[in-house]
Amino acid sequence: MTNKFYLTTPLYYVNDVPHIGHAYTTVAADVLARYYRRQELPGGKKACEVFFLTGTDEHGQKIWQAAEEHGKKPQEFVDRMAGGFKTAWLRLNISNDDFIRTTEERHKRVVQAVFSRLLEQGDIYKGDYEGWYCVPCESFWNETELKEGEKGEKLCPDCGRKVEIVKEETYFFKLSKYQDRLEKHFEANPNFVCPKSRQNEALNFIKQGLKDLSITRTTFPWGVPIKEDSKHVVYVWFDALINYISALGWPDGEKFKKYWPADVHIMGKEIVRFHAVIWSCILMALGLDLPKKIFGHGWWTVEGKKMSKSKGNVVDPIALADQYGVDAVRYFLMREVKFGDDGNFSMQSFVNRYNADLANDLGNLLSRTLTMVDKYFEGIVPNLFPAPECDKRRNFDDLSRTLTDKIKDVFNSVSLEMKTVYVSKALDEIWELITQANKYIEQEAPWKLAKDENKKDQLAAVMYNLVDVLKRVAFFVNPFMPETSRKMWQQLNLSGKPSLEASIDGVKVAKGEPLFPRIQKS
Ligand code: ME8
Ligand code: MG
Repeated sequence: MTNKFYLTTPLYYVNDVPHIGHAYTTVAADVLARYYRRQELPGGKKACEVFFLTGTDEHGQKIWQAAEEHGKKPQEFVDRMAGGFKTAWLRLNISNDDFIRTTEERHKRVVQAVFSRLLEQGDIYKGDYEGWYCVPCESFWNETELKEGEKGEKLCPDCGRKVEIVKEETYFFKLSKYQDRLEKHFEANPNFVCPKSRQNEALNFIKQGLKDLSITRTTFPWGVPIKEDSKHVVYVWFDALINYISALGWPDGEKFKKYWPADVHIMGKEIVRFHAVIWSCILMALGLDLPKKIFGHGWWTVEGKKMSKSKGNVVDPIALADQYGVDAVRYFLMREVKFGDDGNFSMQSFVNRYNADLANDLGNLLSRTLTMVDKYFEGIVPNLFPAPECDKRRNFDDLSRTLTDKIKDVFNSVSLEMKTVYVSKALDEIWELITQANKYIEQEAPWKLAKDENKKDQLAAVMYNLVDVLKRVAFFVNPFMPETSRKMWQQLNLSGKPSLEASIDGVKVAKGEPLFPRIQKS
């Protein structure tokens, strides 16, 4: 049986250009995809086949209005905007296996087929909807759920913007029918939604009672038309959620058979409910398995404020990457905030982390170590072989034993965090090793050992241990910072792809440019 790992990001709305919020989710998914993809069996045989899906959400009232505001035909508008997302992901080294756009035929076909099937089996029925709608969130609300503004106006409880009244003929999807089954699924799968707090939130919401959901609109034309009733287009969320199976070629596609159910849907916390409730019920109605996990991460603010076009504080990940390098951006996003929690972006914290973690901790560890290997051993990593002897020689004192113990730990702790999608914690673990290696240099003081002919063996062991750490760090950071990993591997002058098995004995290192030149603070 082949192991598979299917993971997704949300499909981003194309009314906006990609910003660090979108980059955050997409980089996190990319880190996981790269991590699972490299799980190879000895001999290079693939143990885990990964399918990483992202894309764009291109229908609905919001996009329709945005196209109008730009004076563009909707298709023309979404074509251009989707291009912006594709370019951004290329630039950020995102290794998605597919990019699905909801305006593609392969997707629309599936949306229509799902609609027809559920209509036929009685899970969809025709009626009238009258109620509130938030266009920015593309979300229906009950009167009781709304917030009130200063002048008594009705506001969306999610985004705080004004909601509008919708009154139209519609088709309803019988969410209510699936309430019991969904509750049972939550109870049987305590890690269905992560982090835990969001599982509880979603379950509480379900327990309050699920109301049938309006899933077609008639007051604007920009959506997937249903075959049965030509004036209706499918509600944008019902349309977009189906991407997770349309991209795999549901119902008969090879990819669908191989990859469904998704191993994890990654998204921001604000759309967990749509996935945990609506998507789950669609899947139950279709008789399909539910995703194994829904991970809702936190929200980024910028310099303490909500990011928005109107505030003009939207951070462009490409501009950052152009100035400081792609890996610095990827690293910052993954490390700064515990995955799951909210976080804040500020230029100050970006520069601080860059200088402290990347230029100092990692960059200096590499350059100091290679400089010393050059200076004391003519660039050749001391050969401590054969094996039992090597272990004895490299563990010549307590400091060295502590470091080699840490080396052994990191693999397991990184694996554990990655399995539970806590990507930021995996980086914490890797940085503990880096920090300890830097302390090791200070404490062993190779420059002192080098002055004593009798300590040549110890000096050799110290340098060996440091290069060993660097080799491992190059391997561990690979999913997070693929370019940095490759540069480290080059400077260590090791062949093949970064791996833990590569031997460093007797290798001639090739010190190069600093990995992360310090940012001078102005
Ligand atoms: O909701 N902080 O699309 P969307 C963290 N089309 N993450 C953020 C963020 C921020 N400030 N801003 C955006 C939609 N994100 C629907 C999804 S899925 C079938 C349809 C990320 O363009 C985060 O992943 O509003 C969030 O969930 C997503 O972008 C919302 O993107
Ligand atoms: Mg949104």
